[in-house]
Amino acid sequence: MNEKFKNFENVVFFKKPLFTGISMTNFIKKEIIKNQSISDTNAVFLLGNIMDDPLMEIDRDQYITIANPAAKRLLGNSLIGSSIYERVISDELEEKLQSCFEKKDKIGEFTATLKNNEYHQLTGRLMIINDQKAAILLMDMTLQHNLEKMRRDFIANVSHELKSPLTSLIGFVETLQNTPDIPKNTSVRFLKIMEEESKRMSRLIDDLMSLSKVEVDEHIVPTGKVFIKKVLTSAIASLNDRAQRTGHKIKFLDERKNIAEELVIRGEVDEITEVFHNLIDNALKYSHPASTITVKIRNTETGKITIDICNQGDGIEERHIPRLTERFYRADKGRSRLKGGTGLGLAIVKHITNKHRGQLIIKSVPEKETVFRIIMPYYDTALPSLIKINGRERP
Ligand SMILES: Nc1ncnc2c1ncn2[C@@H]1O[C@H](COP(=O)(O)OP(=O)(O)O)[C@@H](O)[C@H]1O
Ligand SMILES: [Mg+2]
Repeated sequence: MNEKFKNFENVVFFKKPLFTGISMTNFIKKEIIKNQSISDTNAVFLLGNIMDDPLMEIDRDQYITIANPAAKRLLGNSLIGSSIYERVISDELEEKLQSCFEKKDKIGEFTATLKNNEYHQLTGRLMIINDQKAAILLMDMTLQHNLEKMRRDFIANVSHELKSPLTSLIGFVETLQNTPDIPKNTSVRFLKIMEEESKRMSRLIDDLMSLSKVEVDEHIVPTGKVFIKKVLTSAIASLNDRAQRTGHKIKFLDERKNIAEELVIRGEVDEITEVFHNLIDNALKYSHPASTITVKIRNTETGKITIDICNQGDGIEERHIPRLTERFYRADKGRSRLKGGTGLGLAIVKHITNKHRGQLIIKSVPEKETVFRIIMPYYDTALPSLIKINGRERP
């Protein structure tokens, strides 16, 4: 082994404790100045100390000879002297390594997973140092992999959701075009279905736009004042016609200790309205016909207001509850479609609630009561860290 290299290995990887930030950078600078003659390779391994990605040196038999702190964090301690295959699983590494050594190809790439966690997705790069040693850099791609999967699933879901109404529309248009003597009542029925399918697509686009808007600025804390009783009564009023058609009653109860007190939260009126519109709409859709929906406000926790939307219906099985706020997740797909649902309502509710630093709690006793509870901080206490700068409030 190269003497200088050995020296560095000892100094950097074994004798020195973990460094961070400036002290590490200074240490490296000093070492490089002290050892003017260190090779580029040694400098690279030295810099491995400040890298977030695991960097290792392995010998021709694939035993680890040097490992930076990030490698130890990801692959475990006692790395030196162990085989790389004790720590990672890769179908490609051995072949890539041999071919790089034999063909004198300097660089190769491979994919791998962790031996003790196969869900961890890694991309590795290997570089031949000399005819006995190779450097391996591992990059954790799990997050990118999961995001990519989410993106693919989302596009597949949106396409699927749009495809069904579109197929139905195209079918009816063709039938109407190719049947000149179609009876009046049949064409009226077809047009009614076409109208419903078009509205379903329009609702889906509206919900997708709402979702993308709220996702983009979820980190921005709203600054407006929302008079919550006003929002609730107007959401109820806007759905009253529909409620009457199905024989439903929507009851509003103010159970606060001091009901005369003005109830204000910090937020965007349109977004808060959308939350309660979606929740009352769901309560109407998924409850027993002609039952009563109760919208109840209480001040249970100090500094917080609780708004419950309660309905009687089939309810939701426990196993579905944690997944209801995922995009396009429905407890009962057929029923949601029949009711014209997009499967995005609760995803929008969750994002808006998060943005307002609130909480959504779902409780359901099948065949009895289902409660969607929103907990929001009051206007005064919403952002205790707000300070006034030039007369304006800033976080
Ligand atoms: N009040 C409720 N009672 C029973 N199930 C509900 C209720 N609200 C929502 N759900 C379930 O949650 C699913 C997701 O709701 P949501 O995101 O609003 O989509 P949808 O467009 O289907 O209404 C619904 O499909 C339904 O299965
Ligand atoms: Mg809904």
